[in-house]
Amino acid sequence: MLPKVFVALDFADPMRALALADRLDPRRCGVKVGKELFVAAGPEPVRWLVARGFRVFLDLKFHDIPNTAAAACAAATRLGVAMLNVHAGGGRAMLAAAREAVDRTAGESGHARPLLLAVTVLTSLHDADLHEMGIPGTAAQQVVRLAQLTKACGLDGVVCSAHEAATLRAACGPHFRLVTPGIRPADAAPDDQARIVTPAAAIRLGADYLVIGRPITQAPDPLAALAAIDAAIAGVTGTGE
Ligand code: C5P
Repeated sequence: MLPKVFVALDFADPMRALALADRLDPRRCGVKVGKELFVAAGPEPVRWLVARGFRVFLDLKFHDIPNTAAAACAAATRLGVAMLNVHAGGGRAMLAAAREAVDRTAGESGHARPLLLAVTVLTSLHDADLHEMGIPGTAAQQVVRLAQLTKACGLDGVVCSAHEAATLRAACGPHFRLVTPGIRPADAAPDDQARIVTPAAAIRLGADYLVIGRPITQAPDPLAALAAIDAAIAGVTGTGE
């Protein structure tokens, strides 16, 4: 079973990322490696984190022709990550190729099959941005449309705002995984996040996994910050998981 919280290791310096990970417990949380760390340091930090027992969410949001996106997904699967993602806007053929590549590669390499997620509409985009790109309707409608395409192509779920979670849960069913960033404990600074949700509220809204960065990585005691978040989540699930 995957941990509920994935800590975003948003550092360009791999030494800082790994030093922070060293203060975390792989039994209590997963970690997220995004473009900043991966482009700066390559796959080595991911291998190190996997070897330390961390479940890694490789957040590289692949978006390319089907063959290239599938090859990238296969390479990520060989790293032994627990989750990876693509852009749903890559379309049906790309999503299907990514799904096939992950399943085949996991089978061949003996790694557990990672969760394959899609990003629907970037939360930085507004309705007007979509209209400018020729996409009618609202961003909220486009999120549901792309989540349903994601599900139809057999992917495991989407990365979404907790504000979208209830709608997506209703549209995509109980088994579709919802991974939500934009989380802030009630007493934490919002930083640059605009529409934040507490960990307990996100779980209540239907999120399966939470991506949380600065409230943990910038805390004086990251483990204590994580423990407080876990306690808040356990208050909702009643399991401590
Ligand atoms: O530090 P913070 O908790 O804001 O980090 C959130 C993480 O989730 C960052 O890695 C950020 O890039 C990512 N993310 C987000 N909002 C989205 C998608 C991803 O904050 N809509």
